[in-house]
Amino acid sequence: MGDWLDDELPRLNRAILSGDAPPGTLADQARDVLPHLPVVDRLTTEQARRFVVRLGFVGASVARHYQEWNPGGKATPERAFDGLSADGRPFRDYFAALADRTGLGHYSRDSYASLVRWNVGTVEVRRRDELMSVLPGVFDDGRIRSYTGTPGEERFFLLIKQSEAIELAVNDVLDPLGRAGNGLLTEAAIERVRIATDLIDAMRRLFLAFASLPPEQTMPADHFLDVFRQFAVHWTRDDIPPSGALDPEALKRDFLLGVGLPGYDRHVRRLFPALLRHERAALEELMTQPTLPERLLAGLGRDAAELRADAAGGGAELRRLIGQHPALIDWYRLLNAHARAAGAHLMLSKKFLFKPQRRRDEAGQGDQPLVSNRRGTTGMNELFLERLTRARQEHVLAPLRGVLSGETAEKVPDAEVPSAALVSVSLIG
Ligand code: HEM
Repeated sequence: MGDWLDDELPRLNRAILSGDAPPGTLADQARDVLPHLPVVDRLTTEQARRFVVRLGFVGASVARHYQEWNPGGKATPERAFDGLSADGRPFRDYFAALADRTGLGHYSRDSYASLVRWNVGTVEVRRRDELMSVLPGVFDDGRIRSYTGTPGEERFFLLIKQSEAIELAVNDVLDPLGRAGNGLLTEAAIERVRIATDLIDAMRRLFLAFASLPPEQTMPADHFLDVFRQFAVHWTRDDIPPSGALDPEALKRDFLLGVGLPGYDRHVRRLFPALLRHERAALEELMTQPTLPERLLAGLGRDAAELRADAAGGGAELRRLIGQHPALIDWYRLLNAHARAAGAHLMLSKKFLFKPQRRRDEAGQGDQPLVSNRRGTTGMNELFLERLTRARQEHVLAPLRGVLSGETAEKVPDAEVPSAALVSVSLIG
């Protein structure tokens, strides 16, 4: 069973996509193999999580080939699973039971959690020698499963998991500040702010490094557009396909640091079904609290509008405030690091998706019929990602930009250690 799921499935996907096997081959084999799956109630939660990962790839593959090869199949995605059953239940019911068995409120289809966090092995983040976060996977065989078993797909999943592990470290460092009352300018608080800045900066460098490598060392854009993304089809008409937009640590960071985009919380709530139970709960809690910068300003008896007005009038009051509380600069750098990381992510999305698709549009080659390459899988287009990035740039301390010299605004908090050597992210299992 494990061999079929881990080795035969990606091989069949490659064969079908290259025209070497008929598109129905995978579903035909699945019809024979899946009835041998275990009874869900006898599985441990760990085993259930492993099956959710593996059967997620089966579901995505069967759904893709069905929709690709059946005219009108996109309108009836659930028909892809006709005749597929396991443990005497239809495939999607079996998958939903497995998802329930994970004990974590997993979605009834593949998800960000299953494809990225559980699929990729354990990732550790260290700053100097200190362990900052550990993000475990559910396998211990060192493999990264993927749709077609190609290194590009593995690298992509690894990049996202490494980033999430860094984000987890950032949130772990910042989260206690939400309970620190007015102590957001204390030495201990500022130490946390500086560490979080280093970590976010390390994530940005990870994005830049990925973008700077030749395609054969990352993922060629054509593979991303035509192969990888086309597995993120719907299983039912209104479900939420997997996406980086479902990275819960990124969402938490947005609510800790604030995004001035009206309706952002409604946008995030729409993604809730595809998150895990504890992720929904953590976000719900953060959404209803003031952000850290809002608390910071409230502690100083100021608000964002006053800061903007003072900057527009020459910034005399801002200079006085910084003179009185120089640690405001550390908070400014943190919010700036967050915005710059968003800018680097925007660059990735343009380089690997929006620009190649625009080139295709200009050449009259059109779009993929299954999963559009003109927007992300949960529907965000380039314009929306640009608006999100701008909202992060226009953070509540942005008015400080005008009164800080470039060097002060950008300086790495710990100048003695080059920031590239400060944070390491390793796949340990
Ligand atoms: C080559 C690399 C990448 C590309 C091409 C890319 C592309 C995209 C696209 C197209 C969207 C819109 C998603 C949708 O509509 O569902 C998106 C959103 C998002 N991606 Fe990525 N992404 C990449 C890497 C990453 C990484 C490494 C992370 C992990 C931190 C990540 C996290 C996010 C988040 C949090 C969003 C939501 C939008 C936002 O908060 O700005 N992405 N990405």
